[in-house]
Amino acid sequence: MAFDNGMIDLRSDTVTQPTPEMRKAMAEAVVGDDVYCEDPTVNNLQETAAELMGKEAGLFVPSGTMANLIAVLAHCQRGDEAIMGNLGHTFLHEVGGMSALGGVFANTIPNQNDGTLSLEDIRNSYREEDVHHPESRLVILENTQNACGGIPLSVDYMRLVGELAHQLGMKLHVDGARIFNATVALNTTAENLAAAADSVMFCLSKGLCAPVGSVLCGSSEFIARSRKIRKQLGGGMRQAGILAAAGLVALKSMVGRLGEDHVHARQIADGLKELPGIEFHKGYPQTNMVFIHIKSNASKNPEELRTYFANKGILFSFSGPEHFRLVTHYWINDADVTRIVNSFKEALV
Ligand SMILES: Cc1ncc(COP(=O)(O)O)c(C=O)c1O
Repeated sequence: MAFDNGMIDLRSDTVTQPTPEMRKAMAEAVVGDDVYCEDPTVNNLQETAAELMGKEAGLFVPSGTMANLIAVLAHCQRGDEAIMGNLGHTFLHEVGGMSALGGVFANTIPNQNDGTLSLEDIRNSYREEDVHHPESRLVILENTQNACGGIPLSVDYMRLVGELAHQLGMKLHVDGARIFNATVALNTTAENLAAAADSVMFCLSKGLCAPVGSVLCGSSEFIARSRKIRKQLGGGMRQAGILAAAGLVALKSMVGRLGEDHVHARQIADGLKELPGIEFHKGYPQTNMVFIHIKSNASKNPEELRTYFANKGILFSFSGPEHFRLVTHYWINDADVTRIVNSFKEALV
């Protein structure tokens, strides 16, 4: 697909718009009051999501940020700490919600270049019982790991972290905003990737194109607590089946095509790799993200390049002063990929 306005918007997969099939399903959705758990379409989405994640129950929430926040609040008490990567979305981009609203302390350890947290760092950052220490309660992993290049983390690695967290008496939460990009890249299932996790969330509104929403999954008891926290945060929705209907279409129709976005990301990288002044500082794309470093020998500086592209109707985001992130998605087609590569060639040769 391509956007009606002819723009090529690579800033994020969050810019995707609902498909015609989604809009139809939304118009026809059977709804009820979801705060009373009476919306059949929401219930259907939650059950479908839980089954896909291999968990007992699911909870439909307005955003990925709220899903992560609810998970932290449901696992931790005030004064507890959660161990997470210094490049994790929960640390970088969620407005410190866990500490502002939950009094939960972020204990950050470095994300390795391959997106993982080292087992040794997790073990070392866990704090033994001591009168001076907060309780280390939770480990958070992100899969795919966005800021490390959209890297998928393997089933084996996820299992090892889950085992370690549990040995140390902690829980594991997975920010699986793009977990289906990981399943496609690794040729596995979300259930396998989330098997060791006590909770996992995924987003419907990124590469899957639904307009709104994420689903948090875990045990029935965890989801019952999470439901109450969602209400406390003002996230209890009423006839949310209108939104959940798009989510059901997303799960049915959009997961299977994510591989096309990965191919497009690699085609962009293939087209750019010989150009002077460019390097892929987060490695070659493994899913739907291309991270580019504009080197000092490039014929245009990063700001000039971004303006040049904006004038051509091609948008991407800065991921650092000299770094661009290009994200492929349903609304980027083969012709767009050619236009992107040719525009880079014109701009930099
Ligand atoms: C890895 C990751 N987690 C969580 C989120 C938050 O999702 P939302 O924008 O729906 O709050 C994002 C958003 O881009 C993300 O990339």
